Amino acid sequence: MVASKSATFFVAGGAGFIGSGFVALLLETLPAATVVNFDALTYAGNLDNLQGLNQERHKFIRGDITDRSSVLDALTDATDVVVNFAAESHVDRSILSANEFIETNVLGAQVLLDCARERKVRRFVQISTDEVMGSLPEDTDTFFTEESHFRPNSPYAASKAAAEHLVRAAHHTFGLDTVITRCGNNYGPRQFPEKFLPLMIANALNDEPIPIYGDGLNVRDWIHVDDHCRAILKVVEAGRSDTTYNIGARNERRNIEVATSVLDQLGKPHSLLKFVKDRPGHDRRYAINPTLIETELGWKPQETWESGLRKTIDWYLGNPRWVDRARSGDYRQFYAQQYGIEVGAN
Ligand code: NAD
Ligand code: TYD
Repeated sequence: MVASKSATFFVAGGAGFIGSGFVALLLETLPAATVVNFDALTYAGNLDNLQGLNQERHKFIRGDITDRSSVLDALTDATDVVVNFAAESHVDRSILSANEFIETNVLGAQVLLDCARERKVRRFVQISTDEVMGSLPEDTDTFFTEESHFRPNSPYAASKAAAEHLVRAAHHTFGLDTVITRCGNNYGPRQFPEKFLPLMIANALNDEPIPIYGDGLNVRDWIHVDDHCRAILKVVEAGRSDTTYNIGARNERRNIEVATSVLDQLGKPHSLLKFVKDRPGHDRRYAINPTLIETELGWKPQETWESGLRKTIDWYLGNPRWVDRARSGDYRQFYAQQYGIEVGAN
């Protein structure tokens, strides 16, 4: 066990969607653990995501992972585990401009690795994505495994793949204890509404059109964010060094099926669906074989698609202020550029 109940964690990107869920899980399940939450608060980071956390054992520091001196200041010699969630995470933005993706996802990862080594942390966990493995053929029984080749197709995926190589190199060259996780599409509370599921919920609630790329038949493998976070904790505690773990809930869905489920649950008409130009390089299908983490670490998802989707929709219904704030500011500019219409246009 690398993480005892009283371990000190450094979580990069802990004000974002998944990172904030992981910080909450750490504080809830490890009663003596302390967490330094290091986040630049980009458009995707949100201090509201951290409300209600135990403030004695959680310290938030606004900082950029590409800034070596800030990272070194925040990382003490007492830090046991670094978990890196910090990233530019949206494929469409990486198509509009890849620069920030290389800065944060690649250079930032290297800075964190160097600093972790300098501070002699006991374990470095890199949160990666199934997208580094590219696209699977549809209607077959092929799945991503830990042995699948790197075939990133978007600038986002390529930057995440590059980071994985740097993590591997830090282990083999310098002996840093490293583990990598690759998860599929997360859904759940607090996800920034540029991503498909919260975008659909927010648009549907406002009777705005829901943009479906291409033919809507692309397949994603959906997992509730809490199940992802529980899997990461297992990997932190008991994963083998220099090992990659795929994380997935065996929940493949076509985009159009996801969209109609959301509309049905909200009691909104299917006429809100609007087929739009396809995403360039749009991966057709993701599907994860999670056998390794299931058998080796005893992890299993706890949410079903039905229970997870219901809870997610309820959260967005119950948090209109969070949604309104997320859809203001920078989001409006991105939305107009990406979809050619203003947020709020019907
Ligand atoms: P997110 O965009 O919601 O959050 C990213 C967080 O990183 C934000 O709080 C942001 O402020 C912070 N950040 C960005 N640049 C930073 C920098 N230079 N320095 C410090 N902090 C910075 O992303 P998410 O959906 O929570 O994803 C978290 C991680 O999980 C990412 O690494 C992503 O690649 C990976 N992942 C996401 C999914 C998914 O479905 N969302 C699936 C698999 C893997
Ligand atoms: P997204 O949430 O961007 O995640 P990823 O690209 O990492 O899988 O998109 C999920 C799926 O939904 C993907 O196939 C693209 C599609 N999509 C749309 O059809 N319309 C949209 O407006 C968005 C954002 C995504």
